[in-house]
Amino acid sequence: MIDINLLKEASKKVLNNSYSPYSGIKVAAAVLTKNGNVYTGVNVENSSYALTSCAEKNAIINSIIHGEKDFLAMAVYTDSHLVKSPCGSCRQFIFEFSKDLQIYFYGPDYYNEFNIKELFPEGFSL
Ligand code: THU
Repeated sequence: MIDINLLKEASKKVLNNSYSPYSGIKVAAAVLTKNGNVYTGVNVENSSYALTSCAEKNAIINSIIHGEKDFLAMAVYTDSHLVKSPCGSCRQFIFEFSKDLQIYFYGPDYYNEFNIKELFPEGFSL
């Protein structure tokens, strides 16, 4: 059984590692793998703004680095009222590895639950 609270806490724990001097928006993510391991990521911005890498993408990359690419769930935690779901680029990135991922999204006074199926219908894959 998936312990959503554990996943939420894992993302919350790394939120302050977010490198976000330009937007001031901190985002953290955690993925739970089929082996029961949790990998986290934070958003990492760049003065050349387009090079920014989102928390969701970085959590997945962190997991892949550790040899795990089968995901059961993702939690996202942000301190911003403006961020309420994964960006389009992250949706594509998530879809590469999971066509049925449940995503638990937490903001200040905000909670929502999505499946990548609804966030990215008719997604592109090879
Ligand atoms: N960001 C994420 O890390 N994940 C999202 O789901 C949306 C946006 C980051 C990118 C940027 O560093 C900041 O939030 C504002 O867009």
